[in-house]
Amino acid sequence: MEKKDLKKKYNLKIKELLKHNKLYYEKSKPIITDADYDKLKNQIKELEENNKFLNTKNSPINNVGYKPSKLFEKYKHKVPMLSLSNAFYDEDLINFEKKIFNYLSKKIDINYSVEPKIDGVSASLTYINKKLIYGVSRGDGNIGELITENLKTIKDIPSEIVYPGFPNEIEIRGEVFIKKKDFLKIKDKFANPRNAASGSLRQKNPDETKKIPLNFIAYSFGYIGHNNYKYHSDFLKDLKKWGFVVNNDNKVLSNINELIEFHKFIEKKRFSLNYDLDGLVYKVNDINLQNRLGYTSNAPRWAIAHKFSPDNSTTKVLNIEIQVGRTGALTPVAKVEPVNIGGVVVSNATLHNEDEIKRKDIRIGDIVKIERAGDVIPHIISVDKSKRNKNSKEFIFPIKCPSCGSNTLREFNQLTKKNDAVRRCTNESYECNRIAIEKIKHFISKDALNIDGLGKKVIEKFWDLKFIRKPQDIFNLNYSKIKILEGWGELSASNLRQSIESAKTVTLNKFIYSLGIRHIGSENAKTISENVMNIDNFIKIIGKKNFDNFSNIDGIGETQINSLKSYFLNKANLKIVIDLKNILNIETEKQIKNGILVNKTFMFTGKLDGISRAEAKSLIEKNSGTTLSSISKNLDYLVTGEKPTKSKINRAKSMNIKIISQNDLLKLLN
Ligand code: IVH
Repeated sequence: MEKKDLKKKYNLKIKELLKHNKLYYEKSKPIITDADYDKLKNQIKELEENNKFLNTKNSPINNVGYKPSKLFEKYKHKVPMLSLSNAFYDEDLINFEKKIFNYLSKKIDINYSVEPKIDGVSASLTYINKKLIYGVSRGDGNIGELITENLKTIKDIPSEIVYPGFPNEIEIRGEVFIKKKDFLKIKDKFANPRNAASGSLRQKNPDETKKIPLNFIAYSFGYIGHNNYKYHSDFLKDLKKWGFVVNNDNKVLSNINELIEFHKFIEKKRFSLNYDLDGLVYKVNDINLQNRLGYTSNAPRWAIAHKFSPDNSTTKVLNIEIQVGRTGALTPVAKVEPVNIGGVVVSNATLHNEDEIKRKDIRIGDIVKIERAGDVIPHIISVDKSKRNKNSKEFIFPIKCPSCGSNTLREFNQLTKKNDAVRRCTNESYECNRIAIEKIKHFISKDALNIDGLGKKVIEKFWDLKFIRKPQDIFNLNYSKIKILEGWGELSASNLRQSIESAKTVTLNKFIYSLGIRHIGSENAKTISENVMNIDNFIKIIGKKNFDNFSNIDGIGETQINSLKSYFLNKANLKIVIDLKNILNIETEKQIKNGILVNKTFMFTGKLDGISRAEAKSLIEKNSGTTLSSISKNLDYLVTGEKPTKSKINRAKSMNIKIISQNDLLKLLN
């Protein structure tokens, strides 16, 4: 057959496969048998293997799966479903405990509930009056998909609990997963067992979910009506009593050494288990202590996932590319010959920065050992210099930005008194194309404006087509041009318009975060937004260049202020904020404040006894109070600890501010 005809034949088969993928994964209504589907896939595979001239870049053979579904109703979790921080090395565990001690401001003995971490997808089950009412996927942690009927098809999930004394209202959380042997039967359809579980769970038709044997292991509660539990391990015991499957390897251990030993034991044992594990989870067993420790922005302080040893493999460096990120950072990336590491095909590895390339002397053409640890981006561990080509040359890191040609700079870090490891493009803001694209991607990302249907790839495409140059262009798209693009249509264009419309209402903290200012992550954005209260105040401060106003905000330091300054001294950036303000509906996130300290402000001086400042602050905030970092007429109480600063006391006295002890504060809190 001629090349031209082969291409035609190949494209037709691809089209057919895409049609069946859609019917199977999105509509859950396959019209051909699994065997016929496999046959079609094999024909495509064969064509690809025998005809290297075919353009297989977008071949659907390797990326089967489902699209995030609009098929399900959304459900807001009563208690967010957060993720866990990861520990890879023993030191990470020691640090984890150290942070706890620092937070508590003392060293104590801690017992941990230790649980195998199954590599599946988490699900939340709300039982009201003993009946399963809401079954929800994790989603983005705040909002999940209502998949009750699908979850009910899992034999380990009881629809009704008969056990007497089961709480009236309780949300039970656990992992949905597929056993290794069951995955083998369907491994051609999914990239890995976790995808299989998540894909199957989100089928529109529960009968489809039923076809893939899923399992459920319960491991915690989300919301609980009356929580009388003293220990997490007691809750796990109750789960078992109520009829849930809990892991047989769950344990309570009492120090880091025991954790490390048990980790080694399970790491060996994991290959003989009939499900995939990616580590162990350690949770502070004492629930009271868990409550005291609380959460950082996305993970509990009282728990950590201890991952198993990273997987690695050997491959060849094909090229070294320099990527420019949102903040101008030049990141070298190795393009490597694709290699399968632990079930994932890896073709990129981060090289971190120029020093790292120099230190490891990584060159194009080298044979390297590459590692993929957990969800982090793969990286190169070492170079096999014995296999190096004699003519290979050292890699020279560019000193001009590869995107805009501007000078680059390694900033001097005042703290470390060293030059920063990262080289940055000095062309701040939207004048450098790569920076602009990355900033726009950040603007629409999940924790920022979170615009459904407008992903990174679409942004790249719209940029190439010159549809967008600045974030505000997103709100002025020409949909008649979009709907005629390949892969688009009337419906998808109108869906996009709708989701862009609904993203126009945004809270101030998300808006500040969405600007993508260096050092202003979601936590700092939240702090700033709580202090400036509304967008007009924010614009007033940045417009008048009163950046020192930010220095009164607890948690916002010199680094952040300098970054805000350099960002907003650029007129183009300031204009973007003003333009966006006119387009968006920027709301102040109203917090329902009804705690005992509502409208009361506090400041500390001196060392507190048995409690860290951070914990005391969070205690005040939990009770609706606010802490300030300087004495002003807005301050109600100055809380004094050991060796308070005299001048602060004097100033407070002169302003008639109440001066109280740590004990008085506790009394205020009852
Ligand atoms: S506790 C805030 N316990 O790991 C507490 N998670 O990275 C977070 N997982 O989304 C969850 N086994 O999908 C917890 N025994 C276990 C777990 C477990 C597996 C998964 C779960 C979660 C992810 C966190």
